[in-house]
Amino acid sequence: MTTSYVFYQGEIVEESTVSIDIRCKGFNYGLGCFEGIRAYWDEEKKQLYGFRMMEHYERLLESCKALYMDIPYTAKELCDFTVELLKKNEFKTTTYIRPVVYKGSTQLTPSLYGDSDDRVLIYCQPFGSYTGKEVLSVAVSSWRRISDTMLPPRTKATAGYLNSGLASLEVLQNGFDEAIFLTETGNVCEGPGENIFIVKKGKLITPPASDHILEGITRDLVMTLAKNELGMEVVEKSISRTELYNSQEVFFSGTAMEVTAVGEVDRRKVGNGEVGEVCKKLKDLFFDITKGNNPKYAHMCTPVY
Ligand SMILES: Cc1ncc(COP(=O)(O)O)c(C=O)c1O
Repeated sequence: MTTSYVFYQGEIVEESTVSIDIRCKGFNYGLGCFEGIRAYWDEEKKQLYGFRMMEHYERLLESCKALYMDIPYTAKELCDFTVELLKKNEFKTTTYIRPVVYKGSTQLTPSLYGDSDDRVLIYCQPFGSYTGKEVLSVAVSSWRRISDTMLPPRTKATAGYLNSGLASLEVLQNGFDEAIFLTETGNVCEGPGENIFIVKKGKLITPPASDHILEGITRDLVMTLAKNELGMEVVEKSISRTELYNSQEVFFSGTAMEVTAVGEVDRRKVGNGEVGEVCKKLKDLFFDITKGNNPKYAHMCTPVY
């Protein structure tokens, strides 16, 4: 087996040398936050591109701020460490990068206050398609999305993913591929780890940030591409469950999920149940950009080698 390297507390070290205290707050109470980043391998150019790394690390630092966590690195430094880590692991395939910041303190209290011992680690692993499917069958979960009055959904707080886990569990047990959350007040929100879009009467519609979504970096790109490359009107507005059933297209966006079509919601077919026209065009643009092939968006890609 080849040696795996990780970034831990300012250094790139062998993964086998890192251990986490069983008493730490990060483990016991989920006090931490994380990011999910992809680096795309382009076989023709023999190049690995970190995708929108700066935006991901800026969001990580925002999560840290909201959760009263403090780390001594800038977003730029974290990008540089990541490039170094990818090189050290010699990855020549599309890779998932997982930075984690957690409370290393072992005090027996879930308070975020006091005893600052915030740890940073980054690990990465080869990663292909998230679901392995072109078109998903999804269901609305009976679990509602956490709201900003409970746990900040605009951060990638580790503990928030228990909410995601429960929704996924419910719909996977019922034979679906992925869940859709509604907000506490019943608006369509997002998936457990991805944003949602619908196409209706030629407009691309997605829930606004005020509907307790994570403001996805892929969502941002999808909106830009729809406006600038497809000339579509893009609307951020609350979406009702019935509107979802009557959309021409539904699709997800996210770092792990990429751009993936939804063919069925609560056993109601979306369009003809296949990948919709708008989703297909956005998907093609997206994959071209991630591999550094579109000069207009090349600034989003950081070459590793
Ligand atoms: C809850 C949630 N919503 C949306 C997203 C999509 O965000 P991004 O496109 O930045 O990966 C993610 C993934 O990070 C997520 O966990």
